[in-house]
Amino acid sequence: MPEQKREFPYTRQDFNQLCNLVNQHTGIQLAAGKEDMLYGRLSRRIRKLGLPSFKAYIQLLKKDEKSDEFGEFVNAVTTNLTSFFRENHHFDYLKQTVLPELMKRNRDTKKIRIWSAGCSTGEEPYSIAMTVAETMPAGWDVKILATDLDTDVLQHGETGIYDESRIEGLSKATVKRWFVRNKQHPGKVRVQPELQALIYFKQLNLLQQWPMKGPIDIIFCRNVIIYFDMPTKQTLMERYADMLVDDGHLFLGHSEAMNHMSDSYTLVGKSVYIKGGS
Ligand SMILES: C[S@@+](CC[C@H](N)C(=O)[O-])C[C@H]1O[C@@H](n2cnc3c(N)ncnc32)[C@H](O)[C@@H]1O
Repeated sequence: MPEQKREFPYTRQDFNQLCNLVNQHTGIQLAAGKEDMLYGRLSRRIRKLGLPSFKAYIQLLKKDEKSDEFGEFVNAVTTNLTSFFRENHHFDYLKQTVLPELMKRNRDTKKIRIWSAGCSTGEEPYSIAMTVAETMPAGWDVKILATDLDTDVLQHGETGIYDESRIEGLSKATVKRWFVRNKQHPGKVRVQPELQALIYFKQLNLLQQWPMKGPIDIIFCRNVIIYFDMPTKQTLMERYADMLVDDGHLFLGHSEAMNHMSDSYTLVGKSVYIKGGS
């Protein structure tokens, strides 16, 4: 690691140990070259705690992976980039193909279960909720489970309040129907409560046990596994297959092809898969 004047001592060994901790707990692989990013994010924690070095911080983390500080550590290292209607073609596909199919398949139960896994600050589950609310007739029981490892992003998602800049690219009709200006928070907008009523935000580490039983009709897991190593990706794809109904849909991010990960799915659209189907 290049020698630099830093506020806290930070060695290559510290970096490697932090990478191992992150990987073991979250599956995220921090690539070489992320040394400065990690220093920037964690030195804030070290300063706040009044610790002398990264070594001392690592010792503290290793004492208890269930501690509040471990949670802060995880929150600091996750990458939460997201936006409303990111990869918009997925929401068109949901509206035009998946929901109409489910209206036929689930006509007796009138129930649809959707999971946004790695939902970050909520833009993804709210985009799903808008699509559902605009497509489904009354009388259907639709629930969207939105989970993430990072408690900060979940709290944000639950508020439903966003900077106005976050909705700049959306159509006027979408903004008018689903967002209200927030007098208490100038420069912010709030999603309509009707959307919030469809979504359940919960903390969940994809590497650990999942509390829900399923089955689930649709899983969105986009731009999450890109940070995972191959064995973690493979295990996760099989666990998703166990959780999905037959022919249930899995949406991945555009750079997350299923190649070599699992034989349990068939490609049916642009980074959209169904369980089985071959
Ligand atoms: C880049 S964001 C993607 C957000 C959204 N799905 C999208 O495509 O816009 C990735 C999210 O995955 C979450 N994540 C990473 N590892 C995780 C794990 N092991 N369990 C649950 N969530 C995880 C991160 O906290 C982050 O919020």
